[in-house]
Amino acid sequence: MRKKVSIVGAGQVGATTAQRIFEKQYADVVLIDIVEGLPQGKALDMLESGPVVGSDAQVIGTNDYKDTANSDIVVITSGVARKPGMSRDDLLFTNMKIMDSVTSEIVKYSPETIIIVVTNPLDAMAQRVYQSSGLPREKVIGQSGVLDTARFRTFLAQELNVSIRDIQAYVLGGHGDTMVPVLGYTTVGGVPVSELISEKRLGEIIKRTQDGGAEIVSLLKTGSAYYAPSAGVAEMVDSIILNQHRILPCAAYLTGEYGINNLYVGVPVKIGSSGIEEIIQINLSNEEQAMLNASADAVQELIDVMSKQ
Ligand code: 2OP
Repeated sequence: MRKKVSIVGAGQVGATTAQRIFEKQYADVVLIDIVEGLPQGKALDMLESGPVVGSDAQVIGTNDYKDTANSDIVVITSGVARKPGMSRDDLLFTNMKIMDSVTSEIVKYSPETIIIVVTNPLDAMAQRVYQSSGLPREKVIGQSGVLDTARFRTFLAQELNVSIRDIQAYVLGGHGDTMVPVLGYTTVGGVPVSELISEKRLGEIIKRTQDGGAEIVSLLKTGSAYYAPSAGVAEMVDSIILNQHRILPCAAYLTGEYGINNLYVGVPVKIGSSGIEEIIQINLSNEEQAMLNASADAVQELIDVMSKQ
């Protein structure tokens, strides 16, 4: 029997994630949204691509959480997206309420599931889902570091005209302006990036990475990125469904790791069939640790604001 992955939200991120997973064939996919017809239409269209792309997986669209029952993974993409000029934090209250209602429906029908949170502001929404789900921390993971790191690797590959496959990097911290590209662990064919690109130019590439989401929002004007975010989710889903034990930068609930307590922040984690198997602690320079602390403070501010609601 195939595994089951449900995706909440049939917008661009949700539908593209559904398509990526459907095409992998290792899981049947349920796409759920409150808008009637939208998930059904997209799922049927996707299913009809099966004979062409060679997928025998099933994909259905629904407005009823009953159809998500016994999911191995649920991906939450629902919520409002940024408009040009907005920060991810501007979405806080609207998306917080959406997380509460979505989470209670998810765990009602899939009490053992693993949840991947994609909704912004990412770290705060992951924390909200973790707290309201009652699931152990291993089973609530935020997608952001894979995306931010993918952007960083893309820009570095362009800069050096090398294959993206030869670039190893980590972008840690919160999914916002304070994210932390860790240069000590960024290598190109094994060579530290700081030996290949000047400090000034690296600073520009880091800034572009930090503003990567806003760059897409300002180009699209009505919506935010979805190809790279959905690819990031699919990489995490691969590692869970195929028990790959990948080490990926993801938002995880820290309880003292990196000196951070009771907070979702992006760090390298090992992911397998039970969710987060290990939080990997890499050595950070004093400057990187200070940047990570500042990033954690920015997430904590949002948590504090939410807790007063
Ligand atoms: C991004 O960085 C939408 O937060 C997402 O593109």
